[in-house]
Amino acid sequence: MDGVIVDTAKFHFKAWQRLADSLSIPFTEEQNEQLKGVSRVDSLEKILQWGNLELNNQKKLELMELKNKWYLEYVEEVNPSDMLPGTFQFLNELKNAGIKIGLGSSSKNSILILKKLGIIDFFDTIVDGNIIHMSKPHPEVFLKGAKDLGVEPSETVVFEDAISGVQAAKAGGFHCIGIGDSNILNLADLVVKSLEDVKVETLHQF
Ligand code: G6P
Repeated sequence: MDGVIVDTAKFHFKAWQRLADSLSIPFTEEQNEQLKGVSRVDSLEKILQWGNLELNNQKKLELMELKNKWYLEYVEEVNPSDMLPGTFQFLNELKNAGIKIGLGSSSKNSILILKKLGIIDFFDTIVDGNIIHMSKPHPEVFLKGAKDLGVEPSETVVFEDAISGVQAAKAGGFHCIGIGDSNILNLADLVVKSLEDVKVETLHQF
């Protein structure tokens, strides 16, 4: 979801950066690439590790709540115009072709965001951070999604903007189309700039 269908990855980055600043931990855009697709708790652990900071569980919970509070403030105004190029057209095309659609996200805010975008009804299943136990790069999120849809990984295409997500897709035996930079998402079977560059026929090559 974040960074594939909606431009919310920048708000996760902004909120993590604010949190890192408050802890005096330097945090770069390159480091942020490693957080994409990674759960809230695992993201915090990585940031604390980069800053060589050890905190107790209570403090970690407070920091995660703070990060989420800031993130929710940033996404307050999210609306259909924040969908990334080609998203709405591609969802429509898939629906018309009778292809099942699942959402696989590490975010616990996915339903809120999908409602703001007005596209929740496109999805035949939603597997998100409230359901899964293991964060990407573990393939649980996609395996659960495929099971819900009644399809095999080998007949499913995962769309991912995150390194951890591409790793998860490949580890689960899925085909994977990367959305973004081919130098970063080099494990994907194909990398495109946005969903604007994908058609139903693109999926037939797999
Ligand atoms: C997505 C984003 C991550 C985010 C994670 C958890 O995978 O790519 O940047 O940390 O979801 O999101 P949440 O909304 O539950 O904090």
